[in-house]
Amino acid sequence: MELINKKGVRMDGRKPDQMRDVRIEAGVLHRADGSAYLEWGGNKVLAAVYGPREAIPRHSQDATKAVVKCRYNMAAFSVDDRKRPGPDRRSQEISKVISEAFENVILTEEFPRAQIDVNIEILEAEAGTRCAGLTAAAVALADAGIPMTGLISACAAGKAGGHVILDLGKAEDNYGEADLPVAINHQTGEVVLLQMDGDLSQKEFDQALEYAIRGCKEVHELQKAALMKRYASHNGGGEA
Ligand code: CDP
Repeated sequence: MELINKKGVRMDGRKPDQMRDVRIEAGVLHRADGSAYLEWGGNKVLAAVYGPREAIPRHSQDATKAVVKCRYNMAAFSVDDRKRPGPDRRSQEISKVISEAFENVILTEEFPRAQIDVNIEILEAEAGTRCAGLTAAAVALADAGIPMTGLISACAAGKAGGHVILDLGKAEDNYGEADLPVAINHQTGEVVLLQMDGDLSQKEFDQALEYAIRGCKEVHELQKAALMKRYASHNGGGEA
């Protein structure tokens, strides 16, 4: 399978450093304290935030700060072969790395003994769901008014068909050489998530990291626009 042709065009017509289309809407669920819906290429993601509220059971409370509980879940119908419902090793790993990313940006010390629940539901999956899920959850947290040191966004870069590329599609993720998901805090510039699957030389890694950070910045603009739209509709008194 030729993932990228001699002219540097990818299977879906993108250039090596081009992202898939991303669309974000904030405040889509009324019962949640904060929510967001995001489409990223063929990925469709819903994020809902509840809290801060008293942590239950009590032994899970931390007297000095809030506990952040992220739950990443793929709907059974989100992939071609029906996914067995419930947590598996992969979703537990993704929930853990996303929780750790948010623990680094949420001002948890302001809410001792509380918990903040971040639910990420993948309705349709087409590679890059951890980045799409984290990006949607960040908008949902901001929509909930949870204080953070900054808004975070994620984007992956990697290597397929011998080329360093931005935002891997499904075939590139399955048959490519490497995947490098990255999340950054746009206020502090800190990297809050970085994972790597596959092999990259130092030079390729540097290039992929640069692409991923550029992707994060592009997504950050869309997050801000979604939140601005949400606040504008709030101030107007209308429904989002
Ligand atoms: O989604 P992400 O790239 O963050 O994580 P991954 O573990 O690299 O998974 C890549 C892709 O494989 C997912 O986005 C899904 O499209 C697909 N996948 C699947 O088809 N069935 C699963 N049980 C898990 C993942």
